[in-house]
Amino acid sequence: MRALVTGAAGFIGSHLVEQLLADGAHVVGLDCFTDYYARALKDANLAAPRRHDRFTFVESRLQDADLDHLLRDTTHVFHLAAQAGVRKSWGVDFAVYTACNIEATQVLLEACTRTELSKVVYASSSSVYGDDGDMPMREDQRPQPVSPYGVSKLAAEHLCYLYWVAHRVPTVSLRYFTVYGPRQRPDMAFNRFLHAMLGGGTVTLYGTGEQTRDFTFVGDAVSATIAAADRGAPGNVYNIGGGARVSVNRVLELMAVCTGTRPRIERHPVPKGDMHDTYADKGFTVLGFPCDQFGGQEPGDDAEINAFCERNFGVTFPLFSKVEVNGEGAHPLYQWLRSEKGGLLGSKIKWNFTKYLLGKDGKVIGRYSPTTKPEKIAADIEKALAA
Ligand SMILES: NC(=O)c1ccc[n+]([C@@H]2O[C@H](COP(=O)([O-])OP(=O)(O)OC[C@H]3O[C@@H](n4cnc5c(N)ncnc54)[C@H](O)[C@@H]3O)[C@@H](O)[C@H]2O)c1
Repeated sequence: MRALVTGAAGFIGSHLVEQLLADGAHVVGLDCFTDYYARALKDANLAAPRRHDRFTFVESRLQDADLDHLLRDTTHVFHLAAQAGVRKSWGVDFAVYTACNIEATQVLLEACTRTELSKVVYASSSSVYGDDGDMPMREDQRPQPVSPYGVSKLAAEHLCYLYWVAHRVPTVSLRYFTVYGPRQRPDMAFNRFLHAMLGGGTVTLYGTGEQTRDFTFVGDAVSATIAAADRGAPGNVYNIGGGARVSVNRVLELMAVCTGTRPRIERHPVPKGDMHDTYADKGFTVLGFPCDQFGGQEPGDDAEINAFCERNFGVTFPLFSKVEVNGEGAHPLYQWLRSEKGGLLGSKIKWNFTKYLLGKDGKVIGRYSPTTKPEKIAADIEKALAA
């Protein structure tokens, strides 16, 4: 496969690029680093692919790129570039949504008419459904988006269908349902909640928290996207959902367990455009594989919590009951405190349980309560390593 991935520096795009490279594909990634969130995060998303010799990166707006050149040897297009986010899509900002989501898609599809492609996979959204349809949401029910973002994603879906019917561009549209996992966009709920809890801040909650989402793990969304490139039927639309609904309150409960914090919650009215529930019907079955459901099983001990957090949130915490210093290089806890994430979360991090720091001789060097500053622990570890 020779793939063009638009939006390659984004949350889902960067995971897709990594999986395609792991599968042996040649990949051209395109992204213009829109300022919706920090470029540093997007650069970090691309760090691994950039070291790969089958990866080429093109920094450009889709509308300005030399697409005839980029598509010359391409077999598959994965079109993920878009202005995401429901809440910003009202008012003057809608112009950004029409440019990035509708115009950019049309420019790409026009270029696709001038070449032979095996498949063009478009990343649509569960936002196209709106609040008045059936549950679970079926691909054949009438989409009635309740946000300008949803309208822009639906317009691009229609363009994809149109270019299949009129020009035989083999497009497939995938309606992703709230994707979570490492590198999730900073404006999305999991990321916002977790950072608020770890940073000692306040969780902003819209509505009662009883609204539900069909959360979909990013690895599953990527597998479905690659499956669609292989066996999605041109002109079709598929739901890509985790297959279970979980309330936002349940998400908060799980995060409280993981972080050992009791979230301080500030309630706000539900913004216009937010859907109350999302719930996918059968998309995964159609593409032929199962997927994980978020929130079913509560993690138990520290190791399970760590594994849960790493997989679902892309964060690991040094939740060891005992921290041993063996003198062979810096301890993982120390490394973590010095890492970007530790630094980012700063001194406000709260510990789940009392921690012990044991020296080489097994004696306790320090005991740390939930309010001990990480700097103090880091200094103790440094001292113990030097001893
Ligand atoms: N994350 C989700 O839960 C979710 C749910 C439904 C649909 N989607 C869709 O999946 C796709 C990826 O979402 P994401 O969460 O990874 O978003 P993201 O913002 O992390 O990634 C999108 C990337 O596209 C780039 N981009 C935007 N407009 C561009 C343009 N005109 N030219 C070149 N690059 C451009 C941005 O710089 C960004 O890096 C989007 O199409 C989004 O609408 C995402």
